[in-house]
Amino acid sequence: MGYGKEVYIRAEEIMEKRRQFAEQEQEKRRAAFYRECPRAQEIEYELAGISVAAAKSVIGGANLKNQIEELMKKSLLLQNELNALLELKGYPKNYLEPWYECEKCKDIGNIDGRICGCMKALVKKIAYEQLNSISPLSLCTFESFALRYYPEIKIEHSEKTQHGHMQSVLNFCMKYAEGFSDQSHSLLLQGGPGLGKTHLSLAIAQKVIDRGFGVIYVSVPDIVMQLEKEHFGGRFDEKGESETLLTECDLLILDDLGTEFQTKYTVATIYNIINKRMLTSHPTIISTNLTLTEMQQLYGNRMISRIIGMLDRLEFVGSDIRQMKRRERKKSNKNTED
Ligand SMILES: Nc1ncnc2c1ncn2[C@@H]1O[C@H](COP(=O)(O)OP(=O)(O)O)[C@@H](O)[C@H]1O
Ligand SMILES: [Mg+2]
Ligand SMILES: [Zn+2]
Repeated sequence: MGYGKEVYIRAEEIMEKRRQFAEQEQEKRRAAFYRECPRAQEIEYELAGISVAAAKSVIGGANLKNQIEELMKKSLLLQNELNALLELKGYPKNYLEPWYECEKCKDIGNIDGRICGCMKALVKKIAYEQLNSISPLSLCTFESFALRYYPEIKIEHSEKTQHGHMQSVLNFCMKYAEGFSDQSHSLLLQGGPGLGKTHLSLAIAQKVIDRGFGVIYVSVPDIVMQLEKEHFGGRFDEKGESETLLTECDLLILDDLGTEFQTKYTVATIYNIINKRMLTSHPTIISTNLTLTEMQQLYGNRMISRIIGMLDRLEFVGSDIRQMKRRERKKSNKNTED
């Protein structure tokens, strides 16, 4: 899994809170039970004493086996007495233990160096939340991608209609997401505003996250600003943290290429990220409103022909769905008023 570092940091924080909570609650139960049943506290002291004694005899080494057996017997008796007390008062056996959310890893997040299922689920949840803070993910799924917005108008120089073409684009994206791997190609989603490029890239992102991959979705203007800040923030020779994340995540989605404020630095940075990912076979999805000619004008022939040669191009056609939806809403509001 290759989620962004901040996703893991956040997950560790949550795990730590879970552990703390379990242990605080344990303390409360203990204190209450000792008040109710003072003998229990004596038993726990004695048990703690036995652990110390066991540790000492290990260090001491003399007649080890006998000593340890003796201590184990004592400890078992005490444990049984404690259990009997708990039962007598109607509490479960684990009443004085911490109640972790995940008993398997005791809320540590890994077992013998392997990531626990609870941690995997948590990381996925955080990655979703992060994406969600950019755009309401629940609205941008394959299921909510309606083909009725694309009319049966024949596309020039093609056998297909807009509707038929977008049907193939949707099918392609669904297959892409379902079969995503580090061998997947990179994609260029191209077409005018409001045709569903962001919608479909977020739908792909959700599916690919679901399958356990690390996905970073960024809008190019935002990320360029952030990288510039990190780069010119004084640490000249150090590569910014974000840049490493962007080059190393399993799938990078660069939305709205061409709408960023352009300088030599930003153009070079974007190129480096895309190029590095291609060289290390890390798939990237780029969306843009620009035509090929416009891209060449903005970024130069060399950069564009190198990138384009390695991308699968998907052309989005139709008319602005954002506006169509607005009109639909107005109409339905009017109907309810009438
Ligand atoms: N085929 C579609 N079915 C339903 N909603 C769509 C469709 N395409 C786009 N939308 C919605 O229209 C709006 C604009 O689409 P978006 O994907 O942002 O366009 P683009 O990125 O191509 O400019 C979004 O709210 C999106 O969810
Ligand atoms: Mg968009
Ligand atoms: Zn766990």
